Amino acid sequence: MSIDKFRVIAVDGPAASGKSSVSRALAQKLGYVYVNTGAMYRAVTWLALEKGVDLSDAAAVERLLEDSRLEAGIEEGQSCFRVDGVDPAEALVSPEVNSGVSKIATLSCVRTRLVEMQRQYGLRCDSVMEGRDIGSVVFPETPAKFYVDASVEVRAARRLGQGLNDPVALRDAMDSARKSSPLTVPAGAWVIDSSDMNVAEVVTEMLRLLQPLGILPLSE
Ligand code: CDP
Repeated sequence: MSIDKFRVIAVDGPAASGKSSVSRALAQKLGYVYVNTGAMYRAVTWLALEKGVDLSDAAAVERLLEDSRLEAGIEEGQSCFRVDGVDPAEALVSPEVNSGVSKIATLSCVRTRLVEMQRQYGLRCDSVMEGRDIGSVVFPETPAKFYVDASVEVRAARRLGQGLNDPVALRDAMDSARKSSPLTVPAGAWVIDSSDMNVAEVVTEMLRLLQPLGILPLSE
């Protein structure tokens, strides 16, 4: 793995903290690729549900991964992820996937496979990569790490506002308690509480913090 050639900006945080919106906007400002690692865990969850695999049966999920084709690419400046040639698209945020994804994300066979694919992006492009363990496990060496937080009330309201049925508090509890790569504030991360900030304000703050690292926005 080389992060000397390409830069990785890690953005971690709990469910519905606004990571996706700010990561996408930050990537656009910098001309970096936006990589959504949650979509990878969601796609594997969708596949397991489609195939009727019990999400807590590690051996069955491992067999499923061995028998499936997982592909991570870049399309229009963003990561794309296909399982057996399919991008599950809207199904990634279905209530069934929302309630199953944190179960799948506890399995080390899943994490090992997906982390390996996430690290490949570091060899291909400058990226803003969002998730739960990017600054702690996937790219611990990157100097550019953010932890985006917001109060649980604000996060639940944001998800409801998107019209999505999503057990955010339950997912947070599972993501923080799991043994393998739990959600944590990575060492050296800048913590931003976005409860009272909009996307543009968070991105402005991120750009200010990144400036001393020589990471500058594209000229407009
Ligand atoms: O809905 P939200 O954007 O907050 O979550 P997401 O980024 O789509 O991630 C969905 C779930 O995938 C999380 O609740 C975690 O269980 C898992 N995940 C993970 O374990 N590690 C990552 N790097 C990204 C997501």
